[in-house]
Amino acid sequence: MAKNVVIIGTQWGDEGKGKIVDLITDKVSSVVRFQGGHNAGHTLVINGKKTVLHLIPSGIFRNNVQCMIGHGVVLSMSALLKEIEELEKSGVEVKSRLKISPGCPLILPYHIALDNAREAYRGAAAIGTTGNGIGPTYEDKVARRGLRVGDLLDEALFSEKLKQVMEYHNFALKNYYNQEVVDYQKTLDEAISQASIVKPMIVDIAEEIHTRMSKDENILFEGAQGALLDIDQGTYPFVTSSNTTSGGAVTGSGIGVRDIDYVLGIVKAYTTRVGGGPFPTELNYDVTTDEGDPVGRELCSRGHEFGATTGRQRRCGWLDLVILNRSFKVNAVSGICLTKLDVLDELDSIKICIAYEINGERALTPPFSAEGYDIAKPVYIEMPGWNCSTIGTRSFDELPIEAQNYIRKIEDLSQLPVDILSTGPDRDETLIIQNPFD
Ligand code: GDP
Ligand code: IMO
Ligand code: MG
Repeated sequence: MAKNVVIIGTQWGDEGKGKIVDLITDKVSSVVRFQGGHNAGHTLVINGKKTVLHLIPSGIFRNNVQCMIGHGVVLSMSALLKEIEELEKSGVEVKSRLKISPGCPLILPYHIALDNAREAYRGAAAIGTTGNGIGPTYEDKVARRGLRVGDLLDEALFSEKLKQVMEYHNFALKNYYNQEVVDYQKTLDEAISQASIVKPMIVDIAEEIHTRMSKDENILFEGAQGALLDIDQGTYPFVTSSNTTSGGAVTGSGIGVRDIDYVLGIVKAYTTRVGGGPFPTELNYDVTTDEGDPVGRELCSRGHEFGATTGRQRRCGWLDLVILNRSFKVNAVSGICLTKLDVLDELDSIKICIAYEINGERALTPPFSAEGYDIAKPVYIEMPGWNCSTIGTRSFDELPIEAQNYIRKIEDLSQLPVDILSTGPDRDETLIIQNPFD
């Protein structure tokens, strides 16, 4: 029987979602992105060749797979066309294989100007956004004044709506933020010219998905970011502006809750975060001065922990089961895919955070908001490392016993199975214990 599988990040993003989506799309007819935008950076390594995708679903390297962008995604035409051009230059056909919902809010140049102006205004309290206009675009959507992909189909109406919304935002840019205004005519001309390439890709994605479901096809829903960056359930206000949790697959694509058969939670074997905000198990290390915690340094350098979108150093730390257990619940995770286990290969001992100590009391649930984390101290258990390579391991039994124990401990603490294990960036360096589509 066909299945709908949702893949989501369970931490603060960059868990390795793209790699796993690419890997298991050999079993599907289509892949759907349902939230976020080009703030995402999903890295695929196929036979040693690396590609970073931002907007285009990670099924694009499988010829027979239809790629779709659901209405929950905020779409920058500039970012999209750049990505299409790069892929097509390297011989991957995109335009005929990509379908875009008319409901996607458009990211336009004033959203980027607003994003940057707001971050500058926040100063030390900056969120550390990707500067891609994501937040302001979702704000416009919720405020019911945003322009959407479908608006491109009526040029006259589009021009009119754009004029109104730009008057509003330019007023704030100039008078509140003391920034340059964004030119209306230039924005309009650019959008109209880009629209000619985007228009043929517009399709009713909800209908398309349901047609495919009725033909008993497997469909994969590709999440971006991670659960702790969810606008409602993350470490607010240090979050992104969409629902990154599995419910986002429902609201952002056009399926219903009962249509989801399995949720694969991608878990990095340790924790990383880019940008500001709480991170209880962080091991502070600064790459520019090469100063800080030696384990933080090891995780950053062995894991190549630099942002796929902005190039920023990712903050690194130990695995945190308090946030993960909350994440597993709110996403209704069916099984875990544990990634980057190999990054721990040379550590003598490994810690797992199993609780927080808050005002002298043990807590097994995360604080409600960012401020609450200030006084949360991680409580760790410690396990011996394995000090040998796990890269490309072909079976669970081949793993050193200490690595097996680490995985079993995670299963034990979460009461979930590790269904997939990733021990290297390449598509091939993966062990599928239980395929979500079987
Ligand atoms: P995503 O945003 O969740 O798709 O993840 P990113 O692509 O931003 O970051 C994950 C990084 O880890 C990429 O550079 C991947 O190539 C790499 N990666 C993924 N899985 C593994 C793994 O099992 N081992 C190692 N060493 N690298 C991995
Ligand atoms: P993938 O899909 C990691 C972070 C930013 C910032 C916050 C808000 O590759 O896992 P935004 O530009 O979205 O308004 O920034 O969210 N962020 C990510 N961190 N991986 C991502 O995507 C991210 N997308 C946004 O660093 O802290
Ligand atoms: Mg990423």
